[in-house]
Order: sequence, then C-alpha cells, then structure tokens
Amino acid sequence: MRHFDFKNGEIYAENVPLREIAETVGTPAYVYSTATFERHYKVFAEAFDDVDALVAYSVKANSNIAVLATLAKMGCGADVVSGGELIRALTAGIPASKIVFSGVGKTREEMRLALEAGIRVFNVESLPELSLLNNVAIEMGETANIAFRVNPDVTAGGHDKISTGKAENKFGIAWSDAEKAYDLAAKMPGIHVVGVDVHIGSQIDSLDPFKATIVKVGGLIQKLRDKGHVITSFDIGGGLGIPYGNNEKAPPLPSVYGKMVKDMTRDLDVEMIFEPGRMISGNSGILLSRVIYAKSGANRNFLIIDAAMNDLIRPALYDAYHDMEPVKAPGSNFTEVTYDVVGPICETGDTFTRNRILPEMTDGDLLVIHSAGAYGAAQSSQYNTRPLVPEVLVNGDQFEIIRERPSIDDILKNERIPDWLT
Ligand code: LLP
Repeated sequence: MRHFDFKNGEIYAENVPLREIAETVGTPAYVYSTATFERHYKVFAEAFDDVDALVAYSVKANSNIAVLATLAKMGCGADVVSGGELIRALTAGIPASKIVFSGVGKTREEMRLALEAGIRVFNVESLPELSLLNNVAIEMGETANIAFRVNPDVTAGGHDKISTGKAENKFGIAWSDAEKAYDLAAKMPGIHVVGVDVHIGSQIDSLDPFKATIVKVGGLIQKLRDKGHVITSFDIGGGLGIPYGNNEKAPPLPSVYGKMVKDMTRDLDVEMIFEPGRMISGNSGILLSRVIYAKSGANRNFLIIDAAMNDLIRPALYDAYHDMEPVKAPGSNFTEVTYDVVGPICETGDTFTRNRILPEMTDGDLLVIHSAGAYGAAQSSQYNTRPLVPEVLVNGDQFEIIRERPSIDDILKNERIPDWLT
C-alpha cells in the first residue's frame, strides 16, 4: 500500500491531505509517513528474523530524531558516521549496543564519545585510524570492538559518485592488506577484533555485486580463522536500491535479497549486520512544493517551484530521477504539458527535471516530488540564504513538525561582523 496517494481528488500522506500540511506549515516542506518507515523496517527485518542479525539503519539517509525514534521503537539499530549522528541515535533512544560507527575520518573526540557510550563496534577503515583508536581506548582504560571495513574491489551502485567498493575509492582497507591489518590489530591491547565489514555502494539494483562480495569476504573470514583470528560478525553495509518510479530496472525486493544473503552466509557462522538507509527512508518521504510561476521560455515551458537544489540536491548532483505529480488530481479533460521543473536558485543546475510531461499546472498549485525521504533533508543546505526546509511527520490522521523552518534571524545569529568593520 502506498501511503502518499490520492483520496477525494487530492494526494494525502496517510490520512492527512498534503494541502492541509502546506496551508499549516508552508512550502516547501518534507513530509514523512510513519506507516511507511514502519513497513520498510519490518519488511527488511523480517527477511532476517530467523537468523542472528542486526539491522543498523544508516542514519545519514534521514537523520531526524523523530525518524530515528520511530525506528528505535521497532528495535532498529543505527549505523553512524560522526559524533553528531551518534548523539542523534542515542537521543532518539537507540541503545549503544545496537550502534555501529563507520566512516573514513573518525577523530579522537568522536572515538572517545563512542567508547564512553559503549557502542557495539567501530568499522575501522585504515591503519592510522586503528592506531589512534588503540591509543584512545588505552587512555580511557577501555577496549574497542572493531571490524575492518575491507574494500572488496567490486563495482556497484547507481552512479559513480555513490560507488564505494572499488579499489580506486577512498573507502576501506585495500583487499591485499586486509590480513596484515588483522594480524596487527590482534597485538593491540586497546583493540578487540570481532568482525569484517564492507559497504560497496548505494542504489544497487542487482544481487550480483552483493554475491561477489559475499564470496570474497567468506574467503577472507576463512583465511583469518585459519590464522587464529576470532571472527563473529559480518557487516555487509547498505546499498540495496529502491524504485524511483521511472522505467529503470526494479531493484530486488528485500525478501529476495534476504534469501540470497542467508543462503550464501549460512555456513559462515557469523552474526550478520546490515546498514540499510535508502531502503528504509527513501520512499517514506516526499518534498511538497508550490509552483511560484509557470513560465514560457523561448522554446520551453518552465515550472518555477519554491523548492530548489539546496533543499533536494539529488537531481543536480547525481542526475537523479524523482517522480512528480500535482497534489490536486487533474480534471477529466486535462492538458499535458512538457515542463522543465526548476528552483529559484541562480544556477542552471537548479533543475529537478527536464522535459517532464505533467498535467498543466499554474501559479500556486502544489507539486509533490516523490522518493525524497532519503538523502533529501539530510543533504540540504541554506545556499542562497534559503532557510532549511521544515520536516513534518504524519502518523495516521495526525501530523507534527519535527524540524522547524528557521527564520532568517536564526540563520544570521551565528554570524559576526568583526569590530574592525564597525
Ligand atoms: N553504510 C555506509 C558505510 C554508507 O556509506 C552508506 C551510504 C550506507 C550504509 C547506506 O547506504 P544505502 O542503503 O542508503 O544505499 N547521497 C547519495 C547516497 C550516498 C550513500 C552514502 N553511503 C544519494 O542521494 O543517492
């Protein structure tokens, strides 16, 4: 069931008309559906409920604490990549024992914070990081559980900018150095090795790269065990793609992915850890926007909407496709128009789509941009001094603002004019 769908001639989020949210909160606004977050988490978790597994939602995809709290209530863990994300996860009620810490550039302060909180495991990405973590843990009288993020040199991911598992990417320990890294870690008093970690990319629409990765990591686990290392967990990262509504290849369903992973890892005798981000939040949110002007150019029709690339950067950054439709269902004799849908920012890249056929729209009409729940609000900025878009969480027939739209005063309050200029 879709939770952003037409009822009575207009699109609702669950049981709330988007029009009502636009009138109350203003536009642009991100609108999320609790039922969709819950369903996506459930579908993913159920694919692994008969094996030893932890689903650690990748906080970077959508890090609002209300979203995290929704997932925490269902038993979800978290994959964090900064001290800030760690604090968000803890604030939302995700227990430290279900938090894994990834990222290539963890600082001393972030390591301290995570050790104090007692997180489950650090996914270590380099030898300098290992050495610093060892020192920090010793200083604190702690031992850090670690898995090495290894780089399996597998090609995967919907776009070059989100592929992470190739040898040329900055992520993980080079495959050829992996065994040495484990040997080194085993001698460090502040380090306790527990597992192996990978993350090969995002918006992956085929099982093949995951299969290739499992074969390689399975072999590595065997070799490490032969040398006496105790490996109890295998974190396979995130990356499972979602449908964005265009005619691209549909990514495998979580149940199909789940069966494959279980079949291929059954004999490894490890706890599996998953870090899905987009799969849980991508289709749980939309960006609600209003047409400022419908403008005819020399040879194109532009819809200039009040959302822009600073609010949702995916089309500008990755040429990403997002489905769009008017909130109000068109009448029976509607005209279709080919539009370029653009924002108000002074850059040609501020284009959500070109040549999109939509029912004719006019100034003041509301437009939905679908599949904006992952890497939408989380990647937004205040470019052009446009306040961050508010976020709204719907639950049945209720909704609440879960992040306020800042005022311009809020934006300016952290800036200073030095004395020498006044
Ligand atoms: N684990 C790690 C270590 C990651 O780096 C990521 C995403 C994930 C898990 C979650 O991946 P997911 O399941 O969401 O594919 N901004 C881009 C996507 C960047 C993904 C970065 N890493 C986009 O909008 O497409």
